Amino acid sequence: MDKIRIRGNRPLSGKIAIGGAKNAALPLMMASLLTDATLTLANIPYLADITTSANLLIQHGVSVKWRGFRAKAGPEGRSVELTADTISSTEAPYDLVRKMRASVLVLGPLLARCREARVSLPGGCAIGTRPVDLHIKGLERLGAEIDLAGGYIQARAPHGLKGAEIVFPQVSVGATENLLMAASLAEGETVLVNAAREPEVVDLANCLVAMGAQIEGIGSDRVKITGVERLHGANHSIIPDRIETGTYLMAAAITGGDVELLNTLYEPIAAVARILEGAGVEVTTTETGIRVRRENGRLLGVDVMTEPFPGFPTDLQAQMMALMATAEGAAMITETIFENRFMHVPELCRMGANINVHGASAMVRGVGQLTGAPVMATDLRASVSLVLAGLAAKGETIINRVYHLDRGYERLEDKLSACGAEIERLGDGSE
Ligand code: EPZ
Repeated sequence: MDKIRIRGNRPLSGKIAIGGAKNAALPLMMASLLTDATLTLANIPYLADITTSANLLIQHGVSVKWRGFRAKAGPEGRSVELTADTISSTEAPYDLVRKMRASVLVLGPLLARCREARVSLPGGCAIGTRPVDLHIKGLERLGAEIDLAGGYIQARAPHGLKGAEIVFPQVSVGATENLLMAASLAEGETVLVNAAREPEVVDLANCLVAMGAQIEGIGSDRVKITGVERLHGANHSIIPDRIETGTYLMAAAITGGDVELLNTLYEPIAAVARILEGAGVEVTTTETGIRVRRENGRLLGVDVMTEPFPGFPTDLQAQMMALMATAEGAAMITETIFENRFMHVPELCRMGANINVHGASAMVRGVGQLTGAPVMATDLRASVSLVLAGLAAKGETIINRVYHLDRGYERLEDKLSACGAEIERLGDGSE
């Protein structure tokens, strides 16, 4: 299993190109199931979760053609063509869904197009129990008959789906996406109330519109979808990854560096930039991207609470905690989205951080300098928070279970070493 070795305590300086958003790409790929024509997605990142999604689609009968992947330069010019002219299987098996929870996003499209679907229940994961009840209840409101049996969601809509009003009791990115896709091919009007407003949801809605869907209120928490009989193909370019952007903003900040992030947008990470500014980091927009600098003095502790968009994203909470671990003063970090997303805390503490968890909040007392250690993490964002800590720490940090990083960060070591980090991947030959 590969490991990453970092020799830390040196400022990052240079430019980093940001890729297409993983969490936009996954639902967009599943949207290809809604039409027999070709959906072309540009700016597609090269990540393990994208390959898993492609494998899932292939076993549903989708033809998947990669373009421009030999170019080493990066995601620009890269695309994937997805054609679901016939759907050979409406089942999403346990082995694939277990690997990646987002597989549950095939449920809405398959049900809408084929009137049936059998999708494995994803089960819990490292960051919490993560039920899919909101997806199921929403599809039932559209007239689906759903049974849970043998670990599978068995859904049927023999007479097709019918539009309805769905009021989400809690904001869910995935449930909003599943319902957006299903409602696009349902008969009549669907209204999603308390819908997720994440940029990735907006990207999906914009792509569905390009495919012929009728959607109003995109980007608001009340979205109206008027079903159409058929959707057609489209060419869509995936938005830049705001979580990758935020991660590198914090990497520059934690090392006291000066980095420009290219191919990305400021607006989706505005809430993050404001918090960083409060912590003494300078974040400015440039003609080509976003510049982040922290040249003078230590970071200051600031309180952070994760919230649905436009609030501070849960997917940057672990990275922010690494940053606060090195700050002056204390920071209270509260996680409101997932009940168990503090798995990085004991690992950061092994690097010298002073963090105490009380329920959904972590009290981080900044210690200034972290020290390198062998560490390992149980999910993608927790792993990258340890990379950030390693970049700032004195001495050597070895990060185990690198496959987590490969799910969401393309060429992480290359991007960081191009900015002066001493970071390398070590293969130990074992599985
Ligand atoms: C998406 O997960 C992202 N994944 C997650 O990113 C992200 O952390 C999360 O949204 C929140 O922003 C993808 O887009 C592929 P939710 P999703 O449904 O859709 C509860 C990463 O690191 N809930 O918005 O699964 C749920 O348990 C990943 O890239 C229910 O109770 O998240 C959670 O507490 C991790 N019932 C809350 O809602 C449901 O049916 C928000 O979850 C659905 C969700």
